[in-house]
Order: sequence, then structure tokens, then C-alpha cells
Amino acid sequence: MVTEYCKITGMPDIDAGIFKKAAHIIVSGGLVAIPTETVYGLAGSALMEESAKKIYEAKGRPSDNPLIVHIAEPKEAEKIAKTSDVFYALAERFMPGPLTVILPKRPCIPDSVTAGLPTVAIRCPANSIAQSIIRMSGHPIAAPSANRSGIPSPTKAEHVKVDMDGRIDMIVDGGPCEIGLESTVICLSDKNCTILRPGAVTAEMLSEVCDEVSVARAVMDPAVGGAKPLSPGMKYRHYAPATPIFLVDADDETFTRYIDKTSFGKYGVLTTNDKAGYFQKGTLLLLGNDIREASQRLFMLLRQADEMNLTALYAQLPPPNDECLAFYNRLVRAAGGQIIKP
Ligand code: TXA
Ligand code: MG
Repeated sequence: MVTEYCKITGMPDIDAGIFKKAAHIIVSGGLVAIPTETVYGLAGSALMEESAKKIYEAKGRPSDNPLIVHIAEPKEAEKIAKTSDVFYALAERFMPGPLTVILPKRPCIPDSVTAGLPTVAIRCPANSIAQSIIRMSGHPIAAPSANRSGIPSPTKAEHVKVDMDGRIDMIVDGGPCEIGLESTVICLSDKNCTILRPGAVTAEMLSEVCDEVSVARAVMDPAVGGAKPLSPGMKYRHYAPATPIFLVDADDETFTRYIDKTSFGKYGVLTTNDKAGYFQKGTLLLLGNDIREASQRLFMLLRQADEMNLTALYAQLPPPNDECLAFYNRLVRAAGGQIIKP
């Protein structure tokens, strides 16, 4: 299969042609990688059994890990799921945006999309390109992250090209994703919610709407998955580059000393800009100045570590606080859950 690569130009006539072509491919049962504000998604019709099958195949994803269904506006949710007052209260505050809500599904969504679960994950992306393509297709759109299963999600169209060239019909290049980590996934119980995957919408933000907000145990500890995890995606190894990651739980001084003592070969250090001066040796992979920049850059840097053929990548364990939880979760998972305490 030849994958068509289209770059968004900012010129309305040309871009409208790209959206139209992308929407046509989707409603015809094909697959298109599209930008969203979180990561690039691999989009197919959420109403067609065949599209879901193609998505699992292109990603090399186990078919027991369900897909998120993307809609243009919260009111579309009613057609595919049983909504509730809390859903609409959350939608009012956070949609469109990086929040995915799990709801009981309606029969129009095929079992292959939800991996046989009675629920469906719903998200309303804020990215205007994603919005245009969803609206133009007139279908709800199933879209997991557009990476090959197990490796970091793509935050640039170039990443999608590396993973999906020849496997899908089209890639729409809308530039780098602003957030860089996948959406917050929650499930609801009355007016309470549980975070199954942390993202840019934090527990503190959710507590403005929900009575109680809890965080699933697997978020903090990747070893917790169990036979029947709340979110099937939690049981899989995720976000991991080929380069081994050593995540060190230590203060700045102990961390630098640990690297000097144990590191060898062509190793890299993942660090924020303010600490760059601490390291005499090693290739620095700079996360930027704050947690927002670090989140935006993380997956790109994990991919860079592989491209540079680094022997190892060292990083300091971030605090698992409300603001850093998504970053913490992805980094711990990329390191396979192994944390070193020197
Ligand atoms: O930001 C995002 O959410 C991106 C963009 C493309 O929208 N999408 C994304 O999809 O990250 P994916 O498939 O890579 O991750 C979806 C996660 C998985 O962990 C999956 O197990 C979980 O959501 N999930 C999907 N449907 C579910 C359901 N019905 N119940 C529980 N978890 C579900
Ligand atoms: Mg994914």
C-alpha cells in the first residue's frame, strides 16, 4: 500500500481538499493518521467492524485493547453511548479537550471497537484539523495513538511515517502536537470518577466537577494490572523505546553521582534545562523548562534516544504530584516499572 502524505498548509482551499480526501478514506473503510492536541491518532470509522480490524493490524495491537471513539461535539455522544448528567457537566468544562470518558455503549458501535466490552471510550478532540475531518466524515471515529503497539506515541507526523508508512492510506501532517501525552481516561460511577490513565486534565481539575476523584492503582504502579484490569491498555508494556531507561529516585546530587559511577558507553541523560549544567558527560536530551514542555517533548526524546543508538537513557524520577502525574506515569512505564534507589 502506498501511504499518501499531506501537509496542512494554512491555505483554506488546499486544506479543505485534504480534509475531504481524509474523510472520504475513513467513510470508505480506510485509515488516516490525523493530528490531535495530545498525540497523532490512527483514524478509521467507529461504525465499521472492518476498520477496527485494520487498525489493530496496522498497529500490531492486541485486539483485546479497545479503541477511543472521537466525536466533534459532546452532544454526539448520545448516539453511541448512554450519557449522564455528570458526563455533560464534564463535557461543559473539558470538551473539546484532552479528556476521554468511558460510558455504557450503544449497539451501533461494533464489538471490535470496544474489544467486546459493554462500554465505549469517548473523546472530543480540540485540534481543529481533527475536528474538521470528523465533521466532514459524519462518522464517529475510532482512533488509537498512531504508533506501532508498545512504543512511544507519535507527537509529530514524521514519527507516524516511521511507524506506519505502507500500512495505512494517508498521513495528515498538522505539525507537532501541543500536549504530547495522551488524554486523561476516566470512568464514572454516579458523581464520582476514577482516573484510569492520567493526562492533561488532572485529578484536581476533575474534582471541580466530580464529587470524588480517585486514581486507579495501576497508574502509580505498572506492576498492577491483574487478570481483569479496569482499562485493558494498562496491562501492556507501553511507551518504551528500544534504549533501556534507568529511572533514578534521588536528589540532584545523588543522581549525578550515580550516573558518573555506573554509566558506560554512549549514554543519554533526560533532564530539564535548568539542570543541564550538572552533567559533564553523556548526551543531554533536554525536556525544556517546565512540566508542560517536558510532557510535550517526552515521546519525541524517547524516539530520539533510539535514533541516536544510545546504550542507555538515565532520568530522575519526577514527583507523582497532580501536575506531573501523566509525565510520571509514562516515564515509569517506559522504564518497565523499574526504579533505582541509589
Ligand atoms: O489522547 C488520546 O487519547 C489519543 C488520541 C489519538 O486521541 N488516543 C489514544 O488511544 O491514546 P489509545 O488507543 O492509544 O489508548 C486508549 C486507552 C487504552 O489504554 C485503552 O485500554 C483505554 O483507553 N480504553 C479504551 N476503551 C476503553 C473502555 N471501554 N474501557 C476501559 N478502557 C478503555
Ligand atoms: Mg496508545
